[in-house]
Amino acid sequence: MNILVIGSGGREHALLWKLSQSPRVSRLLCAPGNAGTAEIATNHPVAANDLPGLVALAKAQQVDLTIVGPDDPLAAGIVDLFREEGLRIFGPVAAAARLESSKSFAKEFMIRHGIPTAGSATFSDAEAALAHCHAASYPLVVKADGLALGKGVVIAQKLEEAEAAIREIMVEKVFGDAGNTVVIEEFLTGPECSLHALIDGKNYILFPDAKDHKRALDGDQGLNTGGMGTISPSRVLDEAMRERAHREVLEPFIKGLAADGLPFQGMLFPGLMMTPNGPKVLEFNCRFGDPETQSLMRRLKSDLLDLIEATIDGKLAEAQPLWDDRAAVCIVLASGGYPGAIEKGKEITGIEAASADQDVVVFHAGTSSKDGQVVTNGGRVLGVTALGATLEEARRKAYAAADKITFEGKQLRRDIGA
Ligand code: AMP
Ligand code: GLY
Repeated sequence: MNILVIGSGGREHALLWKLSQSPRVSRLLCAPGNAGTAEIATNHPVAANDLPGLVALAKAQQVDLTIVGPDDPLAAGIVDLFREEGLRIFGPVAAAARLESSKSFAKEFMIRHGIPTAGSATFSDAEAALAHCHAASYPLVVKADGLALGKGVVIAQKLEEAEAAIREIMVEKVFGDAGNTVVIEEFLTGPECSLHALIDGKNYILFPDAKDHKRALDGDQGLNTGGMGTISPSRVLDEAMRERAHREVLEPFIKGLAADGLPFQGMLFPGLMMTPNGPKVLEFNCRFGDPETQSLMRRLKSDLLDLIEATIDGKLAEAQPLWDDRAAVCIVLASGGYPGAIEKGKEITGIEAASADQDVVVFHAGTSSKDGQVVTNGGRVLGVTALGATLEEARRKAYAAADKITFEGKQLRRDIGA
C-alpha cells in the first residue's frame, strides 16, 4: 500500500517509523515532512492545511491511505473532503473533530453523557463573561473555545488575570475567531495523564497511558509549550484508575456517539486529571498527541497499519495490539527561545552518535536539510526516545543520547519522568 502521512512533527516521524516496519507498506509519503521523514518517506511540499493540494497529491501519487497528524486539517474537514473524492483516510470528520476544535461543544457532550469534567459556564458575550468572573472564586480557568495552538488556556489566580484573559481572547481576539466564545472552568488539581484510544465508531482500543510535560522549564515552571517530553507508562494511572477511565470516560463516550448520531472514527486523546474525586477530562483531542506518540510508537509491537485499517473498517472489536512492557521516554530538544520567538537554520550534529544505542530512536520535528546538513527549522527540533527495563533506565539512556546532540541554542528539560 502507498501511505501518505500529513504533518511535519515528531508525531508524524514516529508514525512513519512505525509504518515502515509493516510488510504491507510499499511506499511512504509525507506532506510536508521534515529531514527525518525524508529518510524513510518521500516528502512533498504541500502544507498540512492545503486541503485541495493534499487531495491532488493523493490522487497523483496513487495513495491508498492518508493518515492525518495535526488538528487543523481535521477541523477544516479534510476527512469529509477526501471521502467525497473517494479517497481512503484516517481521522474523524469535521462534525466529530469539533470535540477538539470547540471546547464548549465538548463540554456539552460530556455533560449530556455523564463524562466527568470540570464544572463550567460558556459565554459568547464578553460583558457576561466578565460579570461571571466578578462573582467567581479563584483560581479560575479561562479557555478560548477554538483551536489556539495549545495557548488558549489561562489559569487566573485572581479577578484581574481573568479579566485580562477575557479581554485578550474575546475583545482583542489574539486567537482570532477561536475566541468568539470562552469556557470558564472550575480549577482542578491532581496529576495529569494522556489517554489514547482508537475508536471505530462502536468499539475502542485503549493504548497504554502516557504523560506529557507541558511547561518549558524544569519543575513545571515557565510557559506552556506543545510538550517538552513524555513518558509511557505515566505512573499516574494505576489499574484501578485505568478501570475507571474505561467505565467513566470511554464507555460513556461510545454510548454518547451513538445517542448523538456522531460518527467518530479515528484517535481520541483525552487529557485527564486525577482529582481527589476521580478522573476528570480536561479536554478531548481528536488526533495522536505529540510528543506522546513518540513514546507510544516505541512501545507498540503490533502493526500500526492493521490498527488504522481496523479503525476505518469498524473492526476494532477483533484487534488485540501487543505492547512492549518496557518503559519509554521521549525528551524534546527545542530551539532557544521556544515557545517564544526562535531562530532557524542552526546546524545539528550528533544524531547518528545518539542513535548508536539500539534502544534509542531520534525522531525529527522542526528540522530540514540544507546543503546535505540537518538544520533546525522550528521550535521543537528533535524527540530523543529510549526504551528501558525501568523508567529510570529509559531516562538514563534517553538523556545520554540527548547529550550527544548539539545545535546552537539547544534547550531541554532535565526532569522528564523524574
Ligand atoms: P487543555 O488544553 O484544556 O488541556 O489545558 C491545558 C492545560 O491547562 C492542562 O494540561 C492543565 O494543566 C491545565 N488545565 C486545563 N483545565 C484545567 C482545570 N479545569 N483545572 C486546572 N488546570 C487545568
Ligand atoms: N502533547 C499534547 C498534545 O499533543 O496536544
